[in-house]
Amino acid sequence: MKLIALPFLYFYTLTAASSVAGCSHDSYDLQPFTIRLSDGVPRMLERIRDTELPGTIPQYPGNEAGISLETLKALRNQWLVDFDWLKEEESMNRYNHFIAKIENLDVHFIHEKSNEPDAIPLILYHGWPGSFLEFIPVIKSLTQKAKTATGKHVSFDVIVPSLPSFAFSSAPGANWTVDDSARVFNTPMTKVLGYKTYAVHGTDWGSGVAWGQFDGFNTSARAAHFAILPFLPLTPEQLEAQNITLNTSLDQFEEQRYVNWSATGSGYFSEEGSKPNDIGLVLYDNPIGQLVWMGEKYIEWSDPKAGTSPSVLTHNEILRSISLYYLTKSILTSGYIYFQNPLGQTGFRYNYTRARTDAPMLFSGFKYNVQSWPRVLAETVGNLVFY
Ligand SMILES: *[C@@H]1O[C@H](CO)[C@@H](O)[C@H](O)[C@H]1NC(C)=O
Ligand SMILES: *[C@@H]1O[C@H](CO)[C@@H](O)[C@H](O)[C@H]1NC(C)=O
Ligand SMILES: *[C@@H]1O[C@H](CO)[C@@H](O)[C@H](O)[C@H]1NC(C)=O
Ligand SMILES: *[C@@H]1O[C@H](CO)[C@@H](O)[C@H](O)[C@H]1NC(C)=O
Ligand SMILES: *[C@@H]1O[C@H](CO)[C@@H](O)[C@H](O)[C@H]1NC(C)=O
Ligand SMILES: *[C@@H]1O[C@H](CO)[C@@H](O)[C@H](O)[C@H]1NC(C)=O
Repeated sequence: MKLIALPFLYFYTLTAASSVAGCSHDSYDLQPFTIRLSDGVPRMLERIRDTELPGTIPQYPGNEAGISLETLKALRNQWLVDFDWLKEEESMNRYNHFIAKIENLDVHFIHEKSNEPDAIPLILYHGWPGSFLEFIPVIKSLTQKAKTATGKHVSFDVIVPSLPSFAFSSAPGANWTVDDSARVFNTPMTKVLGYKTYAVHGTDWGSGVAWGQFDGFNTSARAAHFAILPFLPLTPEQLEAQNITLNTSLDQFEEQRYVNWSATGSGYFSEEGSKPNDIGLVLYDNPIGQLVWMGEKYIEWSDPKAGTSPSVLTHNEILRSISLYYLTKSILTSGYIYFQNPLGQTGFRYNYTRARTDAPMLFSGFKYNVQSWPRVLAETVGNLVFY
């Protein structure tokens, strides 16, 4: 997962195309949905309170050896003392949530419409350990009218789903790939909500889903923005073999983040990818364990200050996300995305193939991401109009 900031002003090449082509709500059993998870909160708090933590452990700088005990204790204390799930739930419910039945799955999504008649439909895909929550801060501003670099006005109808196996979307079972998710999510866009064409944004595993639509549904997915590309970044050796020189210190810094992540930060990937049952069942009824396993990633991947205050992500945001995983029992099922999309096959591919589409592609790299793609690589996979 990554924090995102959408360069939405650059969607100018996509002409508004939200014509409603015959909604067929009935066949997909589209229902408004309200989040109500408070029944699970007493048990969650009891588990948090009853989990014993050691007094001291060996000290290493930052997150070098994993989450620091001090940070964990501060987060736990806040969870028990200040964190208010009902308040969080209430703020989530200020958005319009729906559940539709597609291919026998419950598919959850937020749908926030712009007041502008020519708004562009835009679907935003999260990854792991993300959720629909990571897009909440940008929904309202995307629906509002803004001016593009060329002076045109643009606004978006925003759709934010929960990927299958995450939060309120059901878990499809064995062998489900991100390409299956791409197929399933083309349905709410085109058949349930009736948009003939739409734009996609993806990060982390969500970039695989976004790519599946950009590449595979090229008559309906007509623009794509990525914060992560669904291709494995190149190592310094691979870059050299392809005669790619990283010219800027930013490119070099980002490449080093990837090198570091590969060497010392990707153990979770191997575990989820090889024995998802083991880690998933260990953590299933263990909120503190989930906080350790996922909270460390929130801190490490999105926060240059690594959890020290003041932070980019507040502790409350981290606790809200972990609570959502615990209360929706998503830890086990969400981990299968690694197992079901083996590296190099589906999801993150080795071969940089060009998307089978003429539609515009946009890419935003963020300095503290743990993967990076220089412009020359991003250019090889699509009609890149913004980097
Ligand atoms: C999943 O794939 C494995 C082999 O890759 C196969 O044996 C199994 O039957 C498949 N399961 C389902 C539910 O399709
Ligand atoms: C890289 O440059 C060398 C020397 O100019 C050339 O022989 C080689 O074919 C180039 N490799 C690629 C992948 O372009
Ligand atoms: C670095 O600069 C060279 C020369 O200006 C350019 O050809 C190359 O594409 C740049 N490399 C990257 C990764 O942008
Ligand atoms: C990569 O790791 C080394 C060794 O821990 C550290 O000194 C360096 O700052 C890291 N680089 C980046 C870009 O994170
Ligand atoms: C990737 O491309 C190479 C050739 O460049 C090919 O041999 C290999 O089969 C491809 N791998 C996949 C998974 O498509
Ligand atoms: C869509 O993809 C097909 C191949 O899958 C290709 O023939 C066609 O030209 C593409 N259409 C557009 C508009 O890019």
